[in-house]
Amino acid sequence: MSITYNEKSNSFKLTANNTCYILSVVSEGYLAHVYFGKVLPDENLNYLLRLDENPFTPETNNRDRASFMDTLPFEYPCFGLGDYREHALSILDKNGASTCDLRYKSYKIYDGKPVLEGLPATFTNSPDEAQTLEITMEDKAAELEATLIYTAFEKLDVITRSIRIKNVGQDNVKLTRVYSACVEFDTDKLDMITLNGSWARERALERAPLHHGKQSVDSMRGESSHQSNPFTALCSHKADEDSGEAYGFNFVYSGNFVSQAEVTQHKKTRYLMGINSNDFEWLLEPDEKFTAPEVVMVYSDSGLGKMSRTFHDLYRNNLVRGEYKDKRRPILINNWEATYFNFTAEKLYQIAEQASKLGIEMLVMDDGWFGHRDADNSSLGDWFVYDSKIEGGLKALVDRVNSLGMKFGIWFEPEMVSPDSQLYREHPDWAIQVKGRELTLCREQYVLDYSRKDVRDYIYGLMRKILDSANIEYIKWDMNRQLTEVASNALPRERQRELWHRYVLGVYDLMNRLTTDYPHILLENCSGGGARFDPGMLYYSPQIWCSDDTDAVERLKIQYGTSMCYPCSAMGAHVSDCPNHTVGRSTPFSTRAHVAMVGTFGYELDVTKISQEDRDSIPAQIAEFNRYNMLVRTGDHYRIGNMFEDNTWDAWMFVAKDKSEALFEFVQVLGRPNERSRSVKLKGLDREVYYYEESNPDVLLSGAALMQCGINIGGIWGDYQSKILHFIKK
Ligand code: GLA
Repeated sequence: MSITYNEKSNSFKLTANNTCYILSVVSEGYLAHVYFGKVLPDENLNYLLRLDENPFTPETNNRDRASFMDTLPFEYPCFGLGDYREHALSILDKNGASTCDLRYKSYKIYDGKPVLEGLPATFTNSPDEAQTLEITMEDKAAELEATLIYTAFEKLDVITRSIRIKNVGQDNVKLTRVYSACVEFDTDKLDMITLNGSWARERALERAPLHHGKQSVDSMRGESSHQSNPFTALCSHKADEDSGEAYGFNFVYSGNFVSQAEVTQHKKTRYLMGINSNDFEWLLEPDEKFTAPEVVMVYSDSGLGKMSRTFHDLYRNNLVRGEYKDKRRPILINNWEATYFNFTAEKLYQIAEQASKLGIEMLVMDDGWFGHRDADNSSLGDWFVYDSKIEGGLKALVDRVNSLGMKFGIWFEPEMVSPDSQLYREHPDWAIQVKGRELTLCREQYVLDYSRKDVRDYIYGLMRKILDSANIEYIKWDMNRQLTEVASNALPRERQRELWHRYVLGVYDLMNRLTTDYPHILLENCSGGGARFDPGMLYYSPQIWCSDDTDAVERLKIQYGTSMCYPCSAMGAHVSDCPNHTVGRSTPFSTRAHVAMVGTFGYELDVTKISQEDRDSIPAQIAEFNRYNMLVRTGDHYRIGNMFEDNTWDAWMFVAKDKSEALFEFVQVLGRPNERSRSVKLKGLDREVYYYEESNPDVLLSGAALMQCGINIGGIWGDYQSKILHFIKK
C-alpha cells in the first residue's frame, strides 16, 4: 500500500517509490505537515511538530492560541487566525470577512488518480500505478468544504497535489486565494532554483540561497510567461547534479501563478505554489465547486539530475497523450525564418520540393496564410485562406506537398484578434477589454475573450473548416501577447476577476476539443517562442516550441534550463540559417543540427537558398537524428556541462534505460590555445560493463573508467564545434 492511515498517531503516510510524505491531524483538527523526503520505516514522527514545546497546543494552552497558529507547520494554511506566514487560502464570507478556518473532517484512500475537471493533470495508465488520498476539511462558520487531493506514484518519486473547494452553505462565498500546495521545511538552509528570462532567452537557471522573508517568482501576464516558469526547486546548499537533496515543484497550469518560499521567524521554510491571487476572485454559489490546478512534487536524494529524470519519466508516461506520445515526430521544415510573411503557395512548394529530396518529412506553413496578412498588423481571427497568396487554394497546395511524400502542417493563433480584421469589425466586444478604456495593443493585436463559449465556438468553427478542407497533419498553436485590461463583456460585475482563470480554462477547453476531434493531428504549442512552456500545455501537445532563439549557442542555455523538469522529447528545436536571426552569430551547420537533435528536430530556413554544402549535409543529419532519436526520447538525460557556470563548453548524455548504449554530445563553445585535451566524465553507465565507442570498436573501457576517469575530448578545432559519441555495451 503506498498510502496508509495510522490511527494511533492520527497520521497519513504517502510512499512514492523512495520518497515519503507524512501529515498528521493534531489538536482540534488542524492538519500539520510532518515530513517530506527519503523513505522511512513506519513510526510515529509527530515529535517533529514540537507540540510539547511552547507555544503548546490550544487544548493545553488556549491563552496562546495565536502563537501556536503562527508556529505549527500547516499542511494548508488559512488566512486570519494568527498564522502570519503566507497563507494558501483566503475567502470573503457571506458577511465580507476574510478569515477562514479548515479543520479535519474525513479521509478516503483509493487506487488510481482522479481527473481534475476542465484542467490538465498527470494521469495513471492503470490504477495500480498510483494511489490517491483525499482529505476533506471543513470550515463550519463559512460553510465551506475543502478536499486536499494527493496522489503518490508507486514507481516514481512523485506526489501530486490539488484542492477542491465546495460551498456547502446557503449563501454565496468568494474565494480570494486558493493555492494548490504548501510544503513546510524544518530548515532554512536551502537554495532556491528558478527558471527566468525574457523573449528569446527563456528558462535561464538562477540559484540563490534562501534568506529571511519571502522570495518568489510569478506571472501576472495571463500566460506562464517568458519571464518566469512555473517551476521551482529547493535543494540543500551542497546539492549538485549528482548528489544532495532536491525538491522540485512544477505547476500544471498555463496562466498566472506564484511560487514562493518564505523563511520564517523560527528559521523554517514555508513553500507555496498556486494561481496568483492578484486580481483573482472566484464566486461560489451554494453547491458550487472550485478545483485548483495540480502541483507536481518530486523528491531526489541524488541531486538535480535525478530530480529532472523523475520529471521526465512522469511527463513522458503520465502527462503527454495522443498518437505521438511514444513516437518519433516527423522531421519538419517551417517557413517562418525562411520567408517570414513574404511567401506564396508556389514558394512553399519549392521549399517542400527541395526538402523532400533531402529526407525532410513535413512542410509547416507558418504565419501569413489567412485573411490579408502580409505583416503582423492584420487578420488574426479571419481564419480563411488568403487567396492571392495561396493561389489555387489550400487543398491544392496540401495535395501537391503530399504528392512529394510530405505531410503538411499549419500555423494558427486562435486566441487573438487584429483590430484590422473582419472579426473585430463585426464583434469588437469579443476582445478582452475594460468598457470605456482604450485597448492596449501588443504586437498589433488584442486577445479574444476565451471565457466565452460563443467566441470559442466561432473560432473553432473556422479552424475546423480549414482542417477539414485539406489533409492537415500538424498544427502550431501560437499565442503572441500578454493580457491587459482584463475584463469581460459577458461576465457580471461580481465575476470579473474570474476572467484570468476562465480565460485559461477556455483555452484548455478548445485544445481539448481540437485534440479529441483530430486525434491524428500533431499539436505543437508555441507562445512568442517559449512563453507557455509548462506542463499544462504538455497535456494537450506533446511538444512545445522552446524559443524563437534558434542560435545553437543560446539554445545550449535554453535547453539546459528547460531540461530541469521538461523532457527533451517535448522541446521544439530547429536548425536555422546563419548569421542567426536573433543574435547574428554564425555557427557550423553540424553544430546547429547536434543541438536541435536534443529536441524534436526540424529545419527553419529556405532550403533552396542555403549553401550547397549545407544542403548536401542534410540527409546525413537526418540519418543521424533517426539513429539516436529513440535514445533521446526514451533514455535518461544527464547534464554534464553547465553553460551558466562555464561559457566555454557544454556536454550531456542520453543513456538507455537498460544501460546498453549511450549518446554523448559535446559542444566546444570557445576554442582554447595551447591546452591539453579536455577530460569529461561520463554519467549513468553500468560500472561493471565494458563499452566501446561506435567508431572505435576495438577499444573497450569499463563504465567505471568512463565515469571515474572520463574521456579525452580531442580533435576539436575552433569555436562552436560539436562532437557526438555513441557508446555501446560489448
Ligand atoms: C511567434 C512564434 C514564431 C512564429 C511567429 C509568427 O513569434 O514563436 O515561431 O510562428 O510567431 O508570427
